[in-house]
Amino acid sequence: MINKINALYEDFQVQLKSNTSIADVLNLKASFVGKKGALSEILKGLRDANPQERKEIGPRSNEVKNLIESAIAEKIKSIEINEINEKLAKNRVDYSLRESLMDLGLKKGGLHPVTQIQRRIEDIFLSMGFEVLDGPHIDTDFYNFEALNIPDTHPARDMQDTFWFKDQKHLLRTHTSTIQIRGMEKREPPFAFVGPGKVFRCERTDATHEMVFHQLEGMMVGKNINTGHLIYFMKTLLKEIFQKEMEVRLRPGYFPFVEPGFELDIRWKKPNPKDESARHSGWLELLPCGMVHPNVLKAGGVDPNEYSGFAFGLGLDRLVMVNYAIEDIRLLHRGDLRFNEQFAHF
Ligand code: FA5
Repeated sequence: MINKINALYEDFQVQLKSNTSIADVLNLKASFVGKKGALSEILKGLRDANPQERKEIGPRSNEVKNLIESAIAEKIKSIEINEINEKLAKNRVDYSLRESLMDLGLKKGGLHPVTQIQRRIEDIFLSMGFEVLDGPHIDTDFYNFEALNIPDTHPARDMQDTFWFKDQKHLLRTHTSTIQIRGMEKREPPFAFVGPGKVFRCERTDATHEMVFHQLEGMMVGKNINTGHLIYFMKTLLKEIFQKEMEVRLRPGYFPFVEPGFELDIRWKKPNPKDESARHSGWLELLPCGMVHPNVLKAGGVDPNEYSGFAFGLGLDRLVMVNYAIEDIRLLHRGDLRFNEQFAHF
């Protein structure tokens, strides 16, 4: 009987090699060590064996059963791994094959032009030692108005038509100036940061006005910061973005959170889609800025007797318009692929 068991094991090893599917391997297992399998058949002769033989057959049959079961488990694992590897090889995507993907008619993906310009500006300011901060879209009356020197009854609240929540305390931020206060609260001067993001206003839309648009706030606070610093950073920013000296105009501008306040306008060749040669040039309001009002420094926990600072709020969508000569801001966020694809890149 021992010989029969050994022969069975050898037979099993030969057959296992030729089975390549999980179902076949499980059938093989049943036919050798299953209830009605070959090993059970052999062991039926146990009652005719002499006591000496029985002593050897018990442990050997157990050993062979264990060997067969672990060989089966190993085989199943290796079949599964092969199947996964085959699938991976079949479905492999080679991203370097960009051109042939495009030949197949697949569309290029890319970042939205506002995101592209935002990242460029972040890089410019990071290189000048500024931090990049974030702030919430839903904010409170305090951060959006109160702390920016615009108390409840101040007429300046009418300058920004606001989406209020029912509680009349929360709102969709109307500008990124909220980031000024949040940034000051967590820092000791001197510091400098920018804060880009979406802002919301209940506006009637037209070629230069959207209801959801993007701004980039900037702030620098330290000892003896003055208007000269402000103008230097604004001109450097515009020169870096447009890669040339830009024609700018500084007018007095009123914002309750700066004193003095300015409007920096940029010379803009307004495109005429019907006649390229008939572009008319004009000024585009782009960059309101000013010296931070002492009340705002106080609200952010900074002593106005010791420190001063400048702040600005850049309209990112308008900057994209100037950069690409886009005649209508509403094209930017309409989701028309024919428009968006022009900015796609890998
Ligand atoms: C502000 O929002 C101030 N918080 C900016 C500021 C910051 C001033 C720091 C001083 C110091 P204003 O409402 O002008 O200001 O908006 C800033 C810029 O956002 C504008 O110059 C313009 O480029 C852009 N902008 C304003 N309204 C819209 C709109 N409806 N659609 C698109 N862009 C807009």
